[in-house]
Amino acid sequence: MRAYDIIKKKRDGFGLTEAEMDFFMTGFLKGDVADYQVSAFLMAVALRGMTPEETGFLTDVMVRTGSVIDLSDIAGPKVDKHSTGGVGDKVSLILAPLMASAGVIVPMMAGRGLGHTGGTLDKLESIPGFKTELSVDEFKSVLSETGCAITGASEDISPLDRKLYALRDVTATVESIPLIAGSIMSKKLSEGIQGLVIDVKVGSGAFMKDLESARELAEIMVDIGSSFGVETIAAITDMNEPLGMAVGNSLEVRESIDVLTGKGPEDIIDLTLSIGSLMLTTSGIEKDIESGRLRLAKLIKDGSAFGRFKDMVRLQGGNIKIFERPSLLHSTCLSIEISSEEEGYINSIDAGLVGTASMMLGAGRVRMDSVIDHTAGILLSRKTGDYVKKDDVICTFCTSDEGSVAPAKKMFLDALRYSAAPPAKRKMVIDVIKK
Ligand code: URA
Repeated sequence: MRAYDIIKKKRDGFGLTEAEMDFFMTGFLKGDVADYQVSAFLMAVALRGMTPEETGFLTDVMVRTGSVIDLSDIAGPKVDKHSTGGVGDKVSLILAPLMASAGVIVPMMAGRGLGHTGGTLDKLESIPGFKTELSVDEFKSVLSETGCAITGASEDISPLDRKLYALRDVTATVESIPLIAGSIMSKKLSEGIQGLVIDVKVGSGAFMKDLESARELAEIMVDIGSSFGVETIAAITDMNEPLGMAVGNSLEVRESIDVLTGKGPEDIIDLTLSIGSLMLTTSGIEKDIESGRLRLAKLIKDGSAFGRFKDMVRLQGGNIKIFERPSLLHSTCLSIEISSEEEGYINSIDAGLVGTASMMLGAGRVRMDSVIDHTAGILLSRKTGDYVKKDDVICTFCTSDEGSVAPAKKMFLDALRYSAAPPAKRKMVIDVIKK
């Protein structure tokens, strides 16, 4: 077999066999297949797609070439969640400790920012000292002490995802359904979990722009999860507007702390409780969604969830002084207020454009070796449905790169649509898909 022929076969729209997928992917891992060949392959997949069978082969080789964590010595139901990627989506940071405080063990393997979307690992790394590359032993030790731990794909666990993810991010190949499914499911199936809730985002700020493709992605992940014996549920949720008020790594950590201390924005709380209650029913702790939401709201109110977050930060090496001095998270950023150029109700805020503007300010990667500015991002002062007058401040940019402000401002203002009457309120959870 030759990598060249496999790329050509995919380019010409033919399906690959399991042996071909194995040859190509294991070759990539060993260094026998070059980055440029894999980039061409990824583009062929992005353009031609994969059959569900091929997506299964891809996921399988991604899981098989790494270790699967054995959590049988840690008591309690093991259930995780993952998002397909959004803007301002800090729900994982809040949910992991919240679920742990409810008695669920959450062994979370998360990702970095991909395209215009943010990544949980980048957000956590804005906490000085926070370690996102835990060995299996460290991961298990944090888990058994506090019930939740968040780490990334490594040399050990889902190593192919680690390599593919970085290439996809800079080759315009992130939106492909089989590549997203393989990436997410390979990490999750390596965690040793029994249940999984996937937040499949749809809308301007998501990789899936329409409901049909979101459903296709959801169904394929639910099928893969079930075929590996993991009860998998997908919630399709709205990602047309940034979630919460903060977009950008350290800004989102701050907002997560707000939510965990009972002060966060309504849309984030609503989504967190919706996904969390699905996790509670999957883990067998609650019978229905409503009682799950009540239980989780109580665990936020009484400080239990925040306590777990502080424990996780401490155990993963993060500087816990951020809890008394949040300014430690943003020491260097310039603050620039952006004002409205029109008057009216904000009818919509295109999340994709806001995510890209935030990237331009330094919050995301342009090349594989780009160093992100953890303090960069956008803090919204207004959201959809608010009435604004011309010159009212609509958001604040945080950046260390003054030159990025003008293009990011243009992009941000292009993201806004105004109307004479307030828009209808959008439902966060659009559909739930399970076997
Ligand atoms: N999250 C992942 O881990 N991978 C993707 O491809 C998208 C979101």
